[in-house]
Amino acid sequence: MSKTEDLLKAREENVPRGPFNVTPYFVDDAKGAVIRDVEGREFIDFAGGIGVMNIGHCAKPVVEAIKDQAERFTHTCFHVVMYEAYVELAKKLNQITPGRFRKKTMFVNSGAEAVENAVKVARYATGRPAIIAFEDAFHGRTLLAMSLTSKVKPYKFGFGPYAPEIHRIPYAYCYRCAFGLEYPACEIHCADYLKEVFHTHISAENIAGIIAEPILGEGGFVVPPDGWHSKIKQICGENGILYIDDEVQTGFGRTAKMFAIEHFGVEPEVIITAKSLAGGLPLAGITGKAEFMDAPHVGGLGGTYGGNPVACRAALAVIETFERESLLSRAEEIGRTVMDHFKRIQEEYEIIGDVRGIGAMVAMELVRDRATKEPAKDETGQLVKKCYEKGLITISAGTHGNVMRILMPLVITDRQLEKGLSILEESLAEIL
Ligand SMILES: Cc1ncc(COP(=O)(O)O)c(C=O)c1O
Repeated sequence: MSKTEDLLKAREENVPRGPFNVTPYFVDDAKGAVIRDVEGREFIDFAGGIGVMNIGHCAKPVVEAIKDQAERFTHTCFHVVMYEAYVELAKKLNQITPGRFRKKTMFVNSGAEAVENAVKVARYATGRPAIIAFEDAFHGRTLLAMSLTSKVKPYKFGFGPYAPEIHRIPYAYCYRCAFGLEYPACEIHCADYLKEVFHTHISAENIAGIIAEPILGEGGFVVPPDGWHSKIKQICGENGILYIDDEVQTGFGRTAKMFAIEHFGVEPEVIITAKSLAGGLPLAGITGKAEFMDAPHVGGLGGTYGGNPVACRAALAVIETFERESLLSRAEEIGRTVMDHFKRIQEEYEIIGDVRGIGAMVAMELVRDRATKEPAKDETGQLVKKCYEKGLITISAGTHGNVMRILMPLVITDRQLEKGLSILEESLAEIL
């Protein structure tokens, strides 16, 4: 039996099937944009551990910060004995996040936990119970985050009852417009629809916040048209509703700006960060207007591990690296290469219905028929498999599982990028 077969057997015997696996491999080592498994096979990484490794695997400054911190202390709990790295990182995020107002930041361990805390802050600050979320949104797997999430299988099925006071409206998914309209003739009707919801679902004065991904992540890298975010924000502003910007997947340079909402000129009251924030260590931030963040009483927010010192040091090293190196322009370059490649192969392969993205957050949506747009879910699954068998790790997305999304580390070399794209194209040709 190979080492992988041994490990797979042990995994099956000891770990439940619920925590899914995209590939049947076990990693031994990962550097930059390359993962090496326990058999010594090399894979180009177009997944980045689901958008976590924007800065690359084992980035030197991050590893050094982790080692240094681990030798000094690994945990005291910020609520028991404070440490500088937590405060320094909060200060940094307050500076680099969009919003020309005074901000404060607190830390937790995961994107889902940050979503939960953003909602707690919004409810406390406004004294209102309800939250508006979007169709095709993903916000995590804890009870409230799962309830805010749209996709039923696999995320919600069998796990109800869900958290109450959540209302859902369509996202600006122009390729599959919920209203059957076309941009720009639609005049962004889907944003104006929010005003209708105040009459048909829930009164505006009962709504604490609206939670939006600037570009849908799990939902299939859906980029809303210019003007959508600002229209939604304006309606929220007129009604005392906080705009909660979930940057968990779009954040930290992925879209060639530090935060994707910057592309849309909107200043959210609350911003949620996680994933690439700490270069692979579990850390998430809730950054918001100081008056809202300070609303909950002392002891109302927190957790044992939130803002772990090793993770905070790693995050500070990530931000310093972004400031020192030109990773944002690299994201732009990568995005241009991938977009050009996808657009070119779209002309050749009927199955590629839509190509979209901003910066290095690019995807193609696969359909069985360009006219009916029937989602090509099985084919997308086959494509992911064919790719990893050929040495390229990718992940799919989309409510119908028919989107190939690209989340490679931004330190990927041109050669690795070209090789990854040719494996993808070759694999597509082979599965059709
Ligand atoms: C937009 C968004 N929000 C929240 C989450 C949940 O983050 P976590 O898996 O760290 O709980 C994710 C995870 O993919 C995400 O993409």
